[in-house]
Amino acid sequence: MPEAVAFQGVTDHSGLHEFSVRETDTFWGTLAHQRLSWISPFNTVQNCDFSQGKIKWFESGKLNVSVNCLDRHVHTYPERVALIWERDEPGTEVKVTYRELLELTCRLGNLLKRQGVGKGDCVTLYLPPCPLAVASMLACARIGAAHNVVFAGFSAGALADRVRDTQSSTVITVNQGVRGGKVIDLKKTVDQAVQNCPSVRQVLVAMRTENTVVMTDRDVPLEEEMMKENVVCDPVAMDSEDVLFLLYTSGSTGKPKGLVHTQAGYLLYASITHRSVFSYQDGDVFGCMADIGWITGHSYSVYGPLCNGGTTVLFESTPVYPDPGRYWETVERLGISHFYGAPTAIRLLLKYGDEWVQKYDRSSLKTLGSVGEPINTEAWDWYHQVVGDGRCPVIDTWWQTETGGICIAPRPSDPDSEIVPGMAMRPFYGIKPTLLDAKGESLPGCESTGALCISLAWPGMARTIHNDHQRFIETYFQPYPGYFFTGDGAHRTKEGYYQIVGRLDDVINVSGHRLGTAELEDVVSLCPAVAESAVIGYSHDIKGEGVGVFVVLKRGVQIDQDVLAQQLREMVSRNIAKYASPDFIQVVRRLPKTRSGKIMRRILRKVVEQKDDLGDLSTLDDSEVVYEVIRGHQKLR
Ligand code: WT7
Repeated sequence: MPEAVAFQGVTDHSGLHEFSVRETDTFWGTLAHQRLSWISPFNTVQNCDFSQGKIKWFESGKLNVSVNCLDRHVHTYPERVALIWERDEPGTEVKVTYRELLELTCRLGNLLKRQGVGKGDCVTLYLPPCPLAVASMLACARIGAAHNVVFAGFSAGALADRVRDTQSSTVITVNQGVRGGKVIDLKKTVDQAVQNCPSVRQVLVAMRTENTVVMTDRDVPLEEEMMKENVVCDPVAMDSEDVLFLLYTSGSTGKPKGLVHTQAGYLLYASITHRSVFSYQDGDVFGCMADIGWITGHSYSVYGPLCNGGTTVLFESTPVYPDPGRYWETVERLGISHFYGAPTAIRLLLKYGDEWVQKYDRSSLKTLGSVGEPINTEAWDWYHQVVGDGRCPVIDTWWQTETGGICIAPRPSDPDSEIVPGMAMRPFYGIKPTLLDAKGESLPGCESTGALCISLAWPGMARTIHNDHQRFIETYFQPYPGYFFTGDGAHRTKEGYYQIVGRLDDVINVSGHRLGTAELEDVVSLCPAVAESAVIGYSHDIKGEGVGVFVVLKRGVQIDQDVLAQQLREMVSRNIAKYASPDFIQVVRRLPKTRSGKIMRRILRKVVEQKDDLGDLSTLDDSEVVYEVIRGHQKLR
């Protein structure tokens, strides 16, 4: 994307990449000047020390993220469409211009201020994708509060944990959500959650449906109160390193961690990757299908496209509502040029056949993106050949909540570069991937496989884990000193291209959503019948990974398998979310353990995947346990 990045006459990707990792400060410093509007300039580009988990970019600079995403575009093209809200009911989309979005944001900003929210506060959003959700995020940014978006599919328990951890004073929600033709009582979930959250002073309730809900003293009718507010709200000058948002994600141990992203570096990284990786041009319609409750929604439905003055789609529905043609009908109706989705949805849709795609005109499409999990060859080919008519490049993007934006993708620039199916391929500017072996030695040369680490800091990376900086250091910087450890394994081809192999830790990837085995085991262990459990991820046709639960019952407990399974599924939905619900539950007499008592989940996974080679069993305390589990699993099938 020559317009986005060009240095000293260099415009080809390898030349630019080499420059970006050699002259990192010049590279990022120049882009930060060119692409962001500053209230006062920064005096250092970066100040980072991985050993301390210290990541600081553009210190002493002041700016306001909402001004960068709204005001500067309103000055040049107030009537350009910023958001297209693709509501659940097909054909009822709502368009919001930059001028309207700024007004909405200012009204909300003023309302939040009137409610006592200001710099240093945190506001939790429990909202489906909609203009009010985006305006709420930007309103927080405008007045200097941090936001914490909680995916509106999370349970009351999970929501309460996140509200408590952030000490939010305010929650914003809707009376009800609408998804796949079903009405979901979101306000009710919030009511349950905030019962145990003393920090919450008020809940702002917007109306997505016409059904009234019970309002308490704590509840504020959002639209009504917002309309009393002025459409002008002065933006607060924020330091580059003030908190912009928190977003919770699962790790291999403990409770989900609240990753912290800050202002300037995050915004620069989200916007530059959005422009370069997808070759996004003015006038294009960017259709990121992810929910705003995930980092993909933050970076590529909201901050990236809006910072670039783009038009972005907020998709409220599901890929199969009212039928499996929904995505492509939406592409035709909205004229989407960039479609960015998850492999799990592609795998699901390809099973319904090509007719659902071919029914609709997809000539507006230029680029197809993939995110969240590896895209298998069958899905890649179908996406490329059927959805894109063999004409649109498929861009597999690897990144994480922690990285803030895309780190590896086939076309960080140069629209003509070769694309190898099923591979994220090339590091983005400023990203220096390194593969390390078990001893922590960096693997030289090209062809190798190891732990994927990144050796230079980049502006989009998370700054800390909220309330637990030590955990931040231990998780990301201690496993391989001197490097940021991603938790993924990767293979590098002889051409130097990267292919992601999968997680190296106990994190499961269900339909592109992260779940920690420990988090699930904690819930399962709440069941009175259960003495001990092991949760594993195993390869699943559509979801990428399925959730398998092995339980050992307490002595003397007699319970029907189906009853137990139903109980556990219900508990997981209630404590975490529906998508985390186990695919199977197997009662076992004993779990395979090492002599030191560690559960060997790796072996359980192989049993479920019916692998002939179970790997090294020599560290097992008693290998007979494995054969018991195999026999039990065969009966379950
Ligand atoms: C984990 C991050 C990226 C935003 C959405 C998920 C896996 C992500 C890919 C990809 C293979 C991928 C990794 C990563 N992952 N993208 N293109 N190919 N694996 O964000 O919830 O933070 O999950 O998702 O395992 O570590 P997240």
